[in-house]
Amino acid sequence: MVSLSLLIASLQVVSLAVARSPTGGYAPGKVDCPSGNLVREAKDLSSDEQAWIKERNKVTNENLATFLSQSGLSNFDAANFVSNTKNGRALKVGIAFSGGGYRAMFNGAGQLAALDNRTTGAHEHGLGGLLQSATYLTGLSGGSWLVGSIVLNNYTSVQNVLSGNILIWDVEHSIVNYGGWNPKKAINYYKDLHNAVQAKKDAGFELSITDTWGRALSHQFFPPANDYSASLCWSDIQTLDAFVNHQMPFPLVVADGRTPGSQIISGNSTVFEIGPYELGSWDPSLKSFTNVKYLGSKVSNGEPSGSDACVAGFDQAGFIMGTSSSLFNQFVLQINTTSLSTALKDLISSLLNDVSHDEDDIAIYKPNPFKYAEAASVQSIVNNDTLYLVDGGEDLQNVPLYPLIQKQRGLDVIFAYDNSADTNQSWPNGASLVATYQRQFLEQGQGTIFPHVPDVNTFRNLNLTARPTFFGCDAKNLTSLLSNTTSANSSYLVFDAPLIVYTANRPFTYWTNTSTFKLSYEDSERNGIIKNGFEVASRLNMTVDSDWRSCVACAIIRREQERQGVEQSDQCKRCFQKYCWDGTIDASEPKVNFTTEGTTNGNEDNGNRTVSAAASIMSYGLKYAIMQLLGTSFLVVMACTFNAI
Ligand SMILES: *[C@@H]1O[C@H](CO)[C@@H](O)[C@H](O)[C@H]1NC(C)=O
Ligand SMILES: *[C@@H]1O[C@H](CO)[C@@H](O)[C@H](O)[C@H]1NC(C)=O
Ligand SMILES: *[C@@H]1O[C@H](CO)[C@@H](O)[C@H](O)[C@H]1NC(C)=O
Ligand SMILES: *[C@@H]1O[C@H](CO)[C@@H](O)[C@H](O)[C@H]1NC(C)=O
Ligand SMILES: *[C@@H]1O[C@H](CO)[C@@H](O)[C@H](O)[C@H]1NC(C)=O
Ligand SMILES: *[C@@H]1O[C@H](CO)[C@@H](O)[C@H](O)[C@H]1NC(C)=O
Ligand SMILES: *[C@@H]1O[C@H](CO)[C@@H](O)[C@H](O)[C@H]1NC(C)=O
Ligand SMILES: *[C@@H]1O[C@H](CO)[C@@H](O)[C@H](O)[C@H]1NC(C)=O
Ligand SMILES: *[C@@H]1O[C@H](CO)[C@@H](O)[C@H](O)[C@H]1NC(C)=O
Ligand SMILES: *[C@@H]1O[C@H](CO)[C@@H](O)[C@H](O)[C@H]1NC(C)=O
Ligand SMILES: *[C@@H]1O[C@H](CO)[C@@H](O)[C@H](O)[C@H]1NC(C)=O
Ligand SMILES: *[C@@H]1O[C@H](CO)[C@@H](O)[C@H](O)[C@H]1NC(C)=O
Repeated sequence: MVSLSLLIASLQVVSLAVARSPTGGYAPGKVDCPSGNLVREAKDLSSDEQAWIKERNKVTNENLATFLSQSGLSNFDAANFVSNTKNGRALKVGIAFSGGGYRAMFNGAGQLAALDNRTTGAHEHGLGGLLQSATYLTGLSGGSWLVGSIVLNNYTSVQNVLSGNILIWDVEHSIVNYGGWNPKKAINYYKDLHNAVQAKKDAGFELSITDTWGRALSHQFFPPANDYSASLCWSDIQTLDAFVNHQMPFPLVVADGRTPGSQIISGNSTVFEIGPYELGSWDPSLKSFTNVKYLGSKVSNGEPSGSDACVAGFDQAGFIMGTSSSLFNQFVLQINTTSLSTALKDLISSLLNDVSHDEDDIAIYKPNPFKYAEAASVQSIVNNDTLYLVDGGEDLQNVPLYPLIQKQRGLDVIFAYDNSADTNQSWPNGASLVATYQRQFLEQGQGTIFPHVPDVNTFRNLNLTARPTFFGCDAKNLTSLLSNTTSANSSYLVFDAPLIVYTANRPFTYWTNTSTFKLSYEDSERNGIIKNGFEVASRLNMTVDSDWRSCVACAIIRREQERQGVEQSDQCKRCFQKYCWDGTIDASEPKVNFTTEGTTNGNEDNGNRTVSAAASIMSYGLKYAIMQLLGTSFLVVMACTFNAI
C-alpha cells in the first residue's frame, strides 16, 4: 500500500518534470518544433481553448445549477434554467482581479476566498461556489500574482495558504530585504537570482529586469522546492490535475504592449492576454496569438525559421507574473539605498549589469514571436526583433476586463474586483472602468462593447465604490454602443455585452488602502486585509444585505433572460433597483470617509492612512511613478519599505 502511493507520487513528480523547462532550471532550452504554425490570426478562440471550455461547461453548468438553487431565488428552477438556454449555449461567468501590488493581491485573495466553496464559511455567509461556477479567471499585475500563485501551486486555495499548508505569501520581509537579519539566507537568495538569470543569458537570451524581478517574486509565490519552481512554466498549467479535470476556471493574465521611449494610454495600448495555451492580443494592432509554450523560438510570420529554431521554457511562471507587474521593476534598482552589506550590493549590481536598462519597466520577449505576423495593423510591433511588454495597468485599464469582453468568449456576467489606488488615499474610484468604457469608441477597441459607466466623481458620490454596483443592467440600453462595433464585428448583439458586477476595495474591519509600493506586510496585516476582502465580496458576511446572494444570482441569469425575453421576477427587480447604476450623475467634488452603506461628508483625514503621494501611481502611469519614486515621497516609501533593515 505504502509503496503503491510512493510509486504514484513519484510518477506525478515525473510527469510534472517532463513538462517543465527542458533545461530543468530557469533558462529556456531547445526542443523539437511542433507541427504547424506557432502564430495564428485572432479570429476565434484557439481550438484548444474551445475544446477545454466545452468540458468546463459541463462542470460549471452543474455547479451553477447548485449555486443558483441555493441562492434564495423564489419560484426559480435553476437546473431547468441552466440546461434550457437559447441555442443550448452555456451560461458563462468571468471573475477579474485588478492590479495594485500586494494590496491588490491580498484584497483580491479575500475576495476570491469568499467565492471559493473550499473556504470555511464561504457557503454560509459568502458567495461560495461562484468560483466553482466560473468559466474564466483573470488577473493583472498584483492580481496576476494572486491568480498565478493560486493556479500554479496546483490550484491551491487561499485557505490552504492561510492555514500554512503551503508555505507561500510570506512577505514580512520584502523581496529587496529577503531573509531579514539572516545574512546567509540573503546571500543565497541573491546568488539564486544571479545564477538563474545568468543561465538564461548564457543560453543566448537578452535579459530585462523583469527576469530578476520575476525570479525574486517567485521566492514569495512558490514554496522552496525545486529552487522556488525555477523551471515551472506558465504553459505547465495545462498539466495540472485541476486543469486537466476542468475543475478550475480558465486563467488569464494581462500585460500591455509598449515600445521603449513611448507612452501609452488605453486608446493606443495593445492589450495582451497570457493563458495556458496562448499569448497574444485581440486588438487590431496585433490581432494574433502565439503558442505560449514555444515563446523564445525563432519565427517568421509564425513559422519556425530554420532547423533548431524552437525553444521551450521561456514562459517561466515567475517571468510571466513579473511581466504583468513590470512597473515594479524599479524596486530591484533601489538596492543601493539599502543598508545591505557591500558584498551583497556588489553581487546584486553585477547581476543588474547584465540586464537591459533601456527602460526599466519593460519585459523583453526576444525573439519576437510575432515577427512579420500578417494580421497586425501596426507594423512597429511585428517588424521589430523584440516584443516589449509592460505592466498591464500602464494603460489605466487596471481591472483585466479586456479578455472577458471579447464576443468570442460569450460571457454573461463579469465579477470585477477593483483594488486600485485611484484616489490620493489609495482607494478605487472606477477610473479603470472608465478607461475600458472609452476604449470601445477608439480604433483599438472596435469589436467590443462595454456598458455605460459614470465619471470617477460620480462613482464615489453615489457610493458605487462603497457597495457592489451592477453596470449594463438593461441590454437594450446598449443599442447606441453597437454602431461603432458593427464595422469590426457585424454579428454583435447587445446581449453579447456581459453585465458587470463591480466591487471596489473599501474598509469594513481593516484599513485596506495600503500603498501600492508597500513591499512588506506583517502576517497580521496581510490577514487583516484578506479578511476584509472576504467581507467586501460578501457584504460584510451578508450582514449588510442578507439578499446579496440572491441579487448575485439575478445578475448571473439576467442576460439569458433578456435573450429569451423572460421578464425578471419582482425579487430580481428589487435587487436591480438596489444594485444597478441608474444613469444618475453627480460629478461634484467627492468625499472619502466610508460608512457601512456608503461614503459621507465626514472628515477627510479618516481615509488617509497610507503614504498618500505614492498612492495614485498606478493611475498616472510610469513617468509619474518614476518622478514620485525619485521625489520626496520616495524617501517615505523607502523608509516604510526598508524599516526592517
Ligand atoms: C466573515 O467571514 C469570514 C470567513 O468565514 C471570517 O473569517 C470573518 O471573521 C467574518 N467576519 C466577520 C465580521 O464576522
Ligand atoms: C458548496 O459547499 C456546500 C457545502 O459546504 C454545498 O452544500 C454546496 O452545494 C456547494 N456549492 C457548490 C456550488 O458546489
Ligand atoms: C494536485 O492536487 C490534486 C487535487 O486537486 C491532487 O490530487 C494531486 O495529488 C496534486 N498533485 C501534486 C503534484 O501535488
Ligand atoms: C498614445 O497616446 C498618448 C496620448 O495621446 C500619446 O502621448 C502617446 O505618444 C501615444 N503613444 C503611442 C505609442 O502612440
Ligand atoms: C550601486 O553602487 C555601486 C557603487 O557605487 C554601483 O557600481 C552600482 O552600479 C550601483 N547599483 C545600482 C543598481 O545602481
Ligand atoms: C525596435 O524597437 C526599438 C525600441 O523602440 C527601436 O529602438 C528599434 O529601432 C526597433 N527595431 C526595428 C528593427 O524597428
Ligand atoms: C492628490 O493630491 C495632490 C497633491 O497633494 C493634489 O494636487 C491632487 O488634486 C489630489 N488628487 C485627488 C484626486 O484628490
Ligand atoms: C464612433 O467612432 C467615431 C470615430 O471613429 C466617433 O466619432 C463616434 O462618436 C463613435 N460613435 C459612438 C456611438 O460613440
Ligand atoms: C443608457 O444609455 C444612455 C445613452 O444611450 C446613457 O447615457 C445612459 O447612461 C445609459 N444608462 C445606463 C443605466 O447605463
Ligand atoms: C451614500 O451613502 C451615504 C452614507 O450612507 C448616504 O448618506 C448617501 O445618501 C448615499 N448617497 C446616495 C446617492 O445613495
Ligand atoms: C467617518 O467620519 C466620522 C466623522 O468624522 C467619524 O466619526 C467616523 O468614525 C468615520 N468613519 C470611519 C469608518 O472611519
Ligand atoms: C491624515 O493626514 C493628516 C495630515 O497628513 C494627519 O494629520 C492625520 O493624522 C491623518 N489621519 C489619519 C487617520 O491617519
